[in-house]
Amino acid sequence: MDTSSINIRYSDLAEQSCCLSCGGAINYAEPRTGECCVDLGSGRGTDVLRMAEAVGATGFAYGVDISDGMLETARNNAKKLGVANVSFVRSDLETIAIPGEIADLVISNCTINHAADKLKVWKEVHRILKSGGRFVVSDIYATEPVPEQYCTDPVAVSECWAGAVTRDEYMNTLSEAGFKDIQVLEESKPYPKGLIHVASFTIFGIKEKKCCCCG
Ligand SMILES: C[S@@+](CC[C@H](N)C(=O)[O-])C[C@H]1O[C@@H](n2cnc3c(N)ncnc32)[C@H](O)[C@@H]1O
Repeated sequence: MDTSSINIRYSDLAEQSCCLSCGGAINYAEPRTGECCVDLGSGRGTDVLRMAEAVGATGFAYGVDISDGMLETARNNAKKLGVANVSFVRSDLETIAIPGEIADLVISNCTINHAADKLKVWKEVHRILKSGGRFVVSDIYATEPVPEQYCTDPVAVSECWAGAVTRDEYMNTLSEAGFKDIQVLEESKPYPKGLIHVASFTIFGIKEKKCCCCG
């Protein structure tokens, strides 16, 4: 997908103090000492820095983002605070530039709705998680299918609404990517966004443990 509208929009917002989140993924994530954590669409890096502190020197936190402005702000924030166990990686979520089976925990807040191919993103989440690893993701879904003319409009998608899919489509994509037994940790009532109505939710899932003794 052409991510240039997203890069421009978020680079413009990188130095502003506006809230970019739609849920509280980090509040449910519970990063543990020594874990490797990844934040998809890490923005200014706030959640990555929180995870880096929680996992300590034996753990590591990656932020992944496509916006040059956001990456610069996040790296400056890490430097200012002297946080060493982090890396901010420039990458599209559809092909995450991180090795497979590296993460104990993947979080994301209000980002996956931007991706044109959400199945690709969720397959990437599955790929980078270790066996038994978990994700906690906050995102929005549309209460009705978004009309075609908006969902292919890159500017409307970058504004965090036109890329939203319905709740059913969201859940089907997760299952197709290999995640079962998704738990919904919080969910809002529908509210207007752009030209549609959306709702926000925070979901939790686990990459099934490989069975070493079967077959
Ligand atoms: C709404 S902001 C959320 C930022 C942060 N998670 C927060 O809660 O403050 C979405 C972020 O995702 C990034 N992003 C959007 N689409 C992306 C994509 N396809 N690949 C990588 N990053 C993307 C944007 O650059 C932006 O920093």
